[in-house]
Amino acid sequence: MDRNTPCRDRLLTSARPLPDFDVVSASGPWLRLADGRRMLDGSSGLICVNVGQGSSAVFSRIERQFARTSFSGAAVVQPHIQLELMDRLCRAVGRPEDSVALVTCGTLGVEVAIGLARNIVRARGGKRRADILTSTLSYHGMSAYTLALAGNGARRPHPDDAFGLAPAFPAPYSPTHGHAHGSCAASCADEVAKAIDGRGAENVAAVLLEPVNGTTGGAFTPPDGYLRRVAEICRERDVLVIHDEVLTGLWRTGTPLASDHWDGAEPDLCILSKGLGAGYTAVGAVLVAPELAPLLRHEAAGPLPALGTMATHPLQAAACLGVLDELEAMDFDAFRARGEQLGAGLRSLVGRPGIRDVRGLGHLYAVELDPGLLWPLMEHAERNGVFFYPFTGAGEPRSEGLVVAPPLTSTADDISHLTTALSDAVTTLTRLG
Ligand SMILES: Cc1ncc(COP(=O)(O)O)c(C=O)c1O
Repeated sequence: MDRNTPCRDRLLTSARPLPDFDVVSASGPWLRLADGRRMLDGSSGLICVNVGQGSSAVFSRIERQFARTSFSGAAVVQPHIQLELMDRLCRAVGRPEDSVALVTCGTLGVEVAIGLARNIVRARGGKRRADILTSTLSYHGMSAYTLALAGNGARRPHPDDAFGLAPAFPAPYSPTHGHAHGSCAASCADEVAKAIDGRGAENVAAVLLEPVNGTTGGAFTPPDGYLRRVAEICRERDVLVIHDEVLTGLWRTGTPLASDHWDGAEPDLCILSKGLGAGYTAVGAVLVAPELAPLLRHEAAGPLPALGTMATHPLQAAACLGVLDELEAMDFDAFRARGEQLGAGLRSLVGRPGIRDVRGLGHLYAVELDPGLLWPLMEHAERNGVFFYPFTGAGEPRSEGLVVAPPLTSTADDISHLTTALSDAVTTLTRLG
């Protein structure tokens, strides 16, 4: 190594057991590598580059804002651009009257949503109700608190450092939720009722869940009726429902919100992040239903857990508006057709050696693999010009495989490159194996 190149190990970040890509440029869903190869981004980066790279709509929004102001803190300066963003975002996800807290990432969105939920229930009932209940298969961010709270076994802190917290109810996914009879159904929501009642509803502020599981178990979708039943159970007990749509929000699963796939599933609070910044900016947004938001101004509620130095950055808002411009300009018929093409291409792998399951919806799929195949398959796929996001067994029983989540703006040719490259990689691997 060049003596002037800093040592990679000093950068304290996750790394995979495959060589890093040396990327020299990117456009849409494609990366150009230093060795001249083209590589399709089959996972939208970290499942966030939802409108591809190099968007001129995003660039021109940022450029225009930069020419005006490059900083304006919302507590001091009229938040014109943040109001515009709030309005556009809330309309985009069909919650036009919601209030919004802006933050700088998904983790902080979850933290702020928890703070807001506690304040709402305090204002409503006059008492502290602090507990936040999560499922055994969930990821809600990388802060000390959210890691301790969530059910991602691979990322849980040492028990001494978990504040005594743990997930509270089994996720409604048959492989991880053991049943005496049959598989998961809406009635799995009874486990949520049991968890609330076991602690006493008077101690519980909210149930926090991913309406569609992201990377912990790999794109599990809940049984029909489950989310509605959870909402009813919580409403009967004055407990709030928070949906973590950090990964799924803004059309990743084919609809503006993942919860839109089921009637009666609307949450009280909803967190968005990856799809809003789309890899262009660090951002998170917490949406609060209009019947609850006024309680946050109530004297008994306590101070708003909002406003960080960079939380209402004008360049952040400009980038998000550019992303919304891109999303709203999509040809939605073509978009839906691309999602179906992706699903059909991936489902055609079912039954091939090494493939345990294919599941998901919209532009979010998981291909679950026999143990030991993940890294060799990733390597072969990369040789064929596509890469994916690995999921590595955070559930119990453990599972591993690929999260397949290309940019929402991918063309039919891009999707067919992805599915062909993956299918060829499976063939090569099983021939060798
Ligand atoms: C469902 C979910 N919640 C929260 C987070 C945390 O978001 P961030 O990495 O932006 O802090 C993630 C990140 O992957 C996520 O997938």
